[in-house]
Amino acid sequence: MKALVIGSGAREHALVRSLLADPAVDVVLAAPGNPGIDLVTMCLPVDASDPSAVVALAREHAVDLVVVGPEAPLVAGVADAVRDAGIACFGPGREAATLEGSKAFAKEVMAAAEVPTGVAHVATTEAELAEALDAFGAPYVVKDDGLAAGKGVVVTEDRGVALEHGLACLAKGGDAQVVVEEYLDGPEASLFCICDGSSVVPLDLAQDFKRVFDGDEGPNTGGMGAYSPLTWAPEGLVDDVVDRIAQPVVDEMARRGTPFVGVLYVGLALTAGGPRVIEFNVRFGDPETQAVLARLETPLGGLLMAAAQGRLDEAEPLRWRDESAVTVVVAAPGYPASPATGEPIAGLEEIGDDAYVLHAGTAKGEDGTLVSAGGRVLSVVALGADLTEARDRAYAAVEQVDLEGSHHRTDIALRASRGELHVP
Ligand code: AMP
Ligand code: GLY
Repeated sequence: MKALVIGSGAREHALVRSLLADPAVDVVLAAPGNPGIDLVTMCLPVDASDPSAVVALAREHAVDLVVVGPEAPLVAGVADAVRDAGIACFGPGREAATLEGSKAFAKEVMAAAEVPTGVAHVATTEAELAEALDAFGAPYVVKDDGLAAGKGVVVTEDRGVALEHGLACLAKGGDAQVVVEEYLDGPEASLFCICDGSSVVPLDLAQDFKRVFDGDEGPNTGGMGAYSPLTWAPEGLVDDVVDRIAQPVVDEMARRGTPFVGVLYVGLALTAGGPRVIEFNVRFGDPETQAVLARLETPLGGLLMAAAQGRLDEAEPLRWRDESAVTVVVAAPGYPASPATGEPIAGLEEIGDDAYVLHAGTAKGEDGTLVSAGGRVLSVVALGADLTEARDRAYAAVEQVDLEGSHHRTDIALRASRGELHVP
């Protein structure tokens, strides 16, 4: 099998790494890829959000399977174009991708499928926004309806801050909408469900750390680290989420004539009243994928091809390494507000066999040296017998990374490793 991975982040680096380890996969190409992926396989330039450019590339290289990493190409219709060209594609079409592209649409589908989620109001004017804030009270949860790279949500006790964020979302103009939601109390979990339009195969649970600083302080980011498995999660949670959330959503999308093929990323709050959906994404999560795929023993290429071809009902039960995985994101100075780029990165060759580095915001400088080129620069990944060992190994490797002014959270998986997390 010849696979083409679309995207350029650490998630795509993790996908490439797992695909290369699948004996059924002969060739993996990445487009556009990044300098880390370029060390392990061939990267090709492409405008990832241009459907005809992706199709032309897939044809030119006679690939059997296209795996789309990020949401923007999916929302732009890349998966539809690839399938229309007769090439298998892992990723939802444009209409199914609206589950991530519009939070209001996701709420509508959840209501139709009777999926447990927070009560929400959609506002299109300042008056509606103010009314919704007062109806729910503090803490306020205000979400940009459209794609915002993980930074469109504000959770605050301060009504002024909530109002200001809501107005900023509405100020985008056009048919801008803002979603005001009930506050959901409880630890968060991410579950990636592999879907083929009708069947659902869940991966294992992971937890992401969205806030920039230790102790969940500071603004939301794209994600500062993750770990898997969730040793503290209630027994049966994965099956429960498939039965009550993922399968009903997949059935509802099929009923609407817009079948969901790809990853349905279920972002959950584990509340005292049971799991509630915080968000859907239509792709693998970043950085959770880096931790989850580190533990997956089942060859990835066969699984994604089965999903793309509607054959998941034939899939063997997934096999997992009996180990824990932790990933820590090394971020550029100033991330998330204004990341500084162009700084040299060194020390990666000092990292031993206990951990590995996946590239995200990196580039090759004019003289060929590795430099920072984005907010989340690297994902450092380690496996261990338990979360404590995986943490120790990941953080020992992070210490080797030399990037002036970089920052990372020091508490990824810490509370879980100490047995301090509980569902209320
Ligand atoms: P999202 O981009 O929808 O994942 O939201 C980003 C983060 O905001 C989530 O990971 C949660 O930490 C927080 N959040 C979103 N919705 C809620 C909610 N209804 N109640 C509490 N926290 C929320
Ligand atoms: N880890 C959050 C996301 O991928 O959206």
